[in-house]
Amino acid sequence: TAGGTREALDPVRYLGNRSSGKQGIALATAAAKRGADVTLVGANLEAEAPSSVRVLHVGSTLELASAVQDVAPGVDAVIMAAAVADYRPEFVADSKIKKEVAGDRVRNPDILARLAETRRPGQLIVGFAAETEPDRDALLALGRAKIARKGSDLLVLNRVGWREGFGTDDNSIVLLDRLGDIVMEASGSKQTVADRILDAVVARLA
Ligand code: PMT
Repeated sequence: TAGGTREALDPVRYLGNRSSGKQGIALATAAAKRGADVTLVGANLEAEAPSSVRVLHVGSTLELASAVQDVAPGVDAVIMAAAVADYRPEFVADSKIKKEVAGDRVRNPDILARLAETRRPGQLIVGFAAETEPDRDALLALGRAKIARKGSDLLVLNRVGWREGFGTDDNSIVLLDRLGDIVMEASGSKQTVADRILDAVVARLA
């Protein structure tokens, strides 16, 4: 998956995030180059995927969840690079909301945790963690807690901020395994980082 989900508030506004889809598209591109049959579930992508990748375009978290649910049972590996909203507004207004109205929110499904729970034997589930924590040890602790909570096989931990991670051409990641051990670290263009992540994915699939 790639991109950022958007949760409609009314016909003109949504709750969203600044994911461009570049990191997820880089992963899909790199996998296709290695001969994989790739389906990219893309939420509001700001960049284009190559024609070697089948793209399913979605908008909201529920749409992303439904597309992933359709595709996941037939694949060897799922990589969840999309930035997914944990909550959505309880009600979507039919007309533009006036300033004084504040709505409740409801929890979105945790797609990654569900994938991990329902994976078939041999299937590899890779999550991402986007954290703003500046301290390296504290950042790693957040990544370790996240992979334990989500139950994925691998977790790509990246620090994000105003000028880091979201929308940029470069990225810097630490790959963690289920025990929280560091598998590898990579920095550089999102394409370079994608290739390093795929090396680890391929090694585990083999
Ligand atoms: O798209 P770019 O501009 O290139 O930016 C790349 C990126 C910074 C968005 C990407 O590298 C990244 O970190 N993606 C994950 C962002 C995110 O949603 O992280 P999180 O820590 O909130 O979520 C953890 C994991 O759970 C993610 O794999 C996410 O896809 C998944 N999730 C989250 C919430 C939810 N309800 N369901 C999920 O499956």
